[in-house]
Amino acid sequence: MSKQQILFVDDEPMVLQGLQRTLRPQRGEWDMVFVESGAQALEHMAVRPFDVIVSDMLMPRMNGAELLKEVVRRHPATVRMVLSGHADKELISQCVGVAHQFISKPCDPEQLKALVKNACQLAGGLLDGEVKQVIGTIDRLPSEPGVFLELREALARPDIESRGLGAIIQRDPGMSAKTLKLVNSAFFGMRKTVSDPQEAVAYLGVEIVRTLVLSDGIFEALEPISSRAFKVGEVWRHSLAVAKAAQAIAKLEGMPLARQREAYAGGLLHDVGVLILASSFPDLYDQVTETARAKAGPLTAAEDWVFGVSHAEVGAYLLGLWGLPAHLLEIVRLHHQPPALVGEELDPVTMVHAADVICGAAAGGSDLFGAASFDPDLLRRPWFPRRLEAWQALGVAATAMEKGDA
Ligand SMILES: [Fe+2]
Ligand SMILES: [Fe+2]
Repeated sequence: MSKQQILFVDDEPMVLQGLQRTLRPQRGEWDMVFVESGAQALEHMAVRPFDVIVSDMLMPRMNGAELLKEVVRRHPATVRMVLSGHADKELISQCVGVAHQFISKPCDPEQLKALVKNACQLAGGLLDGEVKQVIGTIDRLPSEPGVFLELREALARPDIESRGLGAIIQRDPGMSAKTLKLVNSAFFGMRKTVSDPQEAVAYLGVEIVRTLVLSDGIFEALEPISSRAFKVGEVWRHSLAVAKAAQAIAKLEGMPLARQREAYAGGLLHDVGVLILASSFPDLYDQVTETARAKAGPLTAAEDWVFGVSHAEVGAYLLGLWGLPAHLLEIVRLHHQPPALVGEELDPVTMVHAADVICGAAAGGSDLFGAASFDPDLLRRPWFPRRLEAWQALGVAATAMEKGDA
């Protein structure tokens, strides 16, 4: 395998030397270039492609945000990381749109290695070059206009608390993904990963959420994707129904609260790949949905045929770029084909998968976005038929509730 190409940018020579020293053991796997300015970085990038760029934020002439903005434009497939010592609100809102991940200085060398390694793995992954380039430029996902409006109204109330904001944000996949991206970034120096959107909002606090909403449209009610074959509202409704059903099933099965919340978040995010593909390639995605409908076949097969990947991989790729926790990525990546259960113990991937099939069917068979059939491993379990009835009741209730909201 060829070496990964990594570019480090920092105007302070001491910092660059420190990085160089710390990362010396990686020389076998990485080709590393260290430069002192944005201009030099762009010169290097013009000559050969880089998999990952790690840039300082405050630099004279061209700052990190300006540099990364240029990198998005010229080299969209490069994974962009910010390494900064100034974790202030202003800065977060400046680079949240252009950086995939943020790391705070001084940082633990092992953590830095792990983050860059992760980014390299993504950069070297299976996705086709064009799909990867397009996803590399995505800085937000379309948010449900109703939820967005509610959030703005809530922020206008002087007594609003993060709990109330969390309850709103956790109903929208795009805003939840963005919130999780921020809170899991090493900026905040959290020692654990956060998978629950509500918990993420509690960590960020009202002021940061306000900055995000008001600045630069980081959260934004985007124009609904125009598609001949479906309305984007269907994806939002389906996602929320699956989130609620997966959480309810996990609760029924006696899973601990943290895993119930993980099932919820996984359910909410499981189809973000559909939002990404449909908003980035509207015409091709029309072909996908039309083929799936005409053949009455699974959506993933039609996506594979047109893009060479399915929405499951695409969603997991973007959320991976954004640094979301590994177990959430796994739910998103595997929701159509969950891994075989270990013994009889249920896990959130299986819960989301089951909720996806049940909610898809409950929407009357017209739902494109539900998985078509249960995983064979699940079907073989002797207890499955007995439990299915109760699971179905929960899925039907969640689906009906979302339909009622519409
Ligand atoms: Fe799906
Ligand atoms: Fe789905």
